[in-house]
Amino acid sequence: MATVTFDKATRIYPGSTKPAVDALEIDIEDGEFLVLVGPSGCGKSTSLRMLAGLEDVNDGAIRIGERDVTHLPPKDRDIAMVFQNYALYPHMTVADNMGFALKIAGVNKAEIRQKVEEAAKILDLTDYLDRKPKALSGGQRQRVAMGRAIVREPQVFLMDEPLSNLDAKLRVSTRTQIASLQRRLGITTVYVTHDQVEALTMGDRVAVLKDGLLQQVDTPRNMYDRPANLFVAGFIGSPAMNLVEVPIADGGVKFGNSVVPVDRDALAAATDKTVTVGVRPEHFDVAGAESDQGLAVTVNVVEELGSDAFVYGTAKVGDETKDLVVRVGGRNVPEKGSTLHVVPRPGESHVFATSSGARLSD
Ligand SMILES: Nc1ncnc2c1ncn2[C@@H]1O[C@H](COP(=O)(O)OP(=O)(O)OP(=O)(O)O)[C@@H](O)[C@H]1O
Ligand SMILES: [Mg+2]
Repeated sequence: MATVTFDKATRIYPGSTKPAVDALEIDIEDGEFLVLVGPSGCGKSTSLRMLAGLEDVNDGAIRIGERDVTHLPPKDRDIAMVFQNYALYPHMTVADNMGFALKIAGVNKAEIRQKVEEAAKILDLTDYLDRKPKALSGGQRQRVAMGRAIVREPQVFLMDEPLSNLDAKLRVSTRTQIASLQRRLGITTVYVTHDQVEALTMGDRVAVLKDGLLQQVDTPRNMYDRPANLFVAGFIGSPAMNLVEVPIADGGVKFGNSVVPVDRDALAAATDKTVTVGVRPEHFDVAGAESDQGLAVTVNVVEELGSDAFVYGTAKVGDETKDLVVRVGGRNVPEKGSTLHVVPRPGESHVFATSSGARLSD
């Protein structure tokens, strides 16, 4: 087991002037499950491939434990990787697929068999060891791919969207299995996904990337409660946080007809005339049309989930029409076309600088 350090690691692809990954700095603890997340093209796979040794590092360094691996070939890094396309060898049995890397490494047959059987037990594949991959379900194949990585007992697991070939339901159950398996084995893991729900549910910590730049590394809880900037605020959370540009008023911000008190230091730090206030759908106080508080939201669509419901509406903010999402109780669902008045609950709003996007509230 080992720590993993990205020390200002940079990758500039040949023919490009802009780094695909720009001075990435993350310290991953021994045994930690770190998730890299971000939109398509933000540099997740490039970061992982640099750690694997499949991509050159043009500047900075990468360390596994105390070892500087920046220029080591992949086979000398003591890592095992699970890809999105974990192509299994179709003509080999599950057992042979799982033991293949060990066979290439010259490990003797008895030891291979023992390691494969151990891994199969952990992965619930014991009954399938003699089958060929085509006789397995998608989830079982995915577990064989995990098994191939486990038998090598690497210092670090690298996984690049390993669940994206699975259907929605299987993804949810498999992600729980992978997370609990990782905790049991205690092997440092770097996991790539573009799905923020997957990131929050699986990671000890989550690193958000955008355009090759690290935006924030934090626990899922902190990521949700204290997003570092507008990008993270909008990216983490589903439905997304409402982000509304509002004028600064005496003692707070003007949110429709109400002045919402916010952190004084946040407003003192603001350099624009407005700030952008972020409010999660579950953090509004809601009143009916009779109220004159806050913003008047016209209800367009109601998504009922049983326990609660999401109201998708529009509100006039200044001269603009703004889409808003508000969570309400499942027994208290407004009619389509009706009007709600919403005010951010005290202490539950986030304040960001409108121009730079930086978080101003603490
Ligand atoms: N071999 C390559 N040569 C040139 N540019 C590349 C190469 N591979 C990736 N890129 C570029 O580098 C950037 C980051 O790509 P990367 O594959 O790391 O993104 P990603 O976050 O994994 O995206 P996705 O979620 O779509 O897999 C993109 O702009 C991509 O076009
Ligand atoms: Mg990728």
